[in-house]
Amino acid sequence: MSDDEKGHYVHLGYHKWMLMDEARMEALEAMVAELVQPGDVVVDVGTGTGILAVLAKRAGASRVYGIDASPIVRLSRRMVEANEIEGVELIESDMALAMLPGKVDVIFSECLGNLAFGDRMFRKLGDFAQRWLKPDGRRGPAEVRLYVQPTDCRLFGDPRPFWRRPYKDLDLSPFLPAVESQVSVVDVVSSFLHSEPQLVASFDPFDCPDSFELEASWELPEGKTCNAVAFWFEVDWAPGVTMSTSPSAPSTHWAQAILRVPERTLLEGDRLDLRIGVTFDDEETPYYEWSGGYRTADGGVDQPFSRKANDPYSVDG
Ligand SMILES: C[S@@+](CC[C@H](N)C(=O)[O-])C[C@H]1O[C@@H](n2cnc3c(N)ncnc32)[C@H](O)[C@@H]1O
Repeated sequence: MSDDEKGHYVHLGYHKWMLMDEARMEALEAMVAELVQPGDVVVDVGTGTGILAVLAKRAGASRVYGIDASPIVRLSRRMVEANEIEGVELIESDMALAMLPGKVDVIFSECLGNLAFGDRMFRKLGDFAQRWLKPDGRRGPAEVRLYVQPTDCRLFGDPRPFWRRPYKDLDLSPFLPAVESQVSVVDVVSSFLHSEPQLVASFDPFDCPDSFELEASWELPEGKTCNAVAFWFEVDWAPGVTMSTSPSAPSTHWAQAILRVPERTLLEGDRLDLRIGVTFDDEETPYYEWSGGYRTADGGVDQPFSRKANDPYSVDG
């Protein structure tokens, strides 16, 4: 992992943001309590501030290794020392290169980024567990489920009006196509969702598929406006420990993502047909493509679209 690839996790602000995310922390604490048994040797992959490694020690682990590629580990070590915690060793390394004295009882990782895939950790995590987890060992998270639901994002996540207006007498509309194909991370207001969420995929993050073809179709309410789909995930961190990033669940720093589709004032019998493709490059960077159209009551397809995200890390609302 180069300095560039370590990206935002070099900055303490992101770690503060994650530590202040109460829904996340509550779920992760429950995951640690569920997975760790007294005397276990545990690995926290992507330990960051070392918080989960310390929680694992408090849960009775005999030894905990926390691994992180970011230099934040140097500060996290000081935190462990300052709190006089014994038996927690923090290792500054890419997980792919980290060496341990032997196989371990538990491996867990808070490995979820924007749209679940944004932290690009799943492939390496699977390899890491293959190498270091005992055959009867425990690991988390166990499953990630992806949900999609149509929405009208004009009031909470629509940068288009800004780019449509002249600015200092300049026409900014040439920027609009890029805006249309941007994946935005925003807090979706649940009262602006249409129809029902659809489960489009579920997978084990330690054995993540090489690509996804997600398909969904919804009957839409006449008279409302549709211009985007909201995208979020649910995760089973451990048996019995589930956390949702749905707009109707307690809010988390992950918020939701929206992918824009052509805007339409909906007619009776309209449906939205959607296909989302997710592929990954060698660094596991996710790329999103989505296509579809509005299927009308007479069986035709209006406003067909085919879009490709220009920037997988875009977070512009
Ligand atoms: C979502 S943060 C979680 C931090 C911490 N475990 C927590 O829950 O607050 C993911 C962490 O994984 C680290 N990371 C990402 N890819 C990694 C890799 N290939 N090897 C080691 N650490 C990695 C990042 O630097 C980041 O600190």
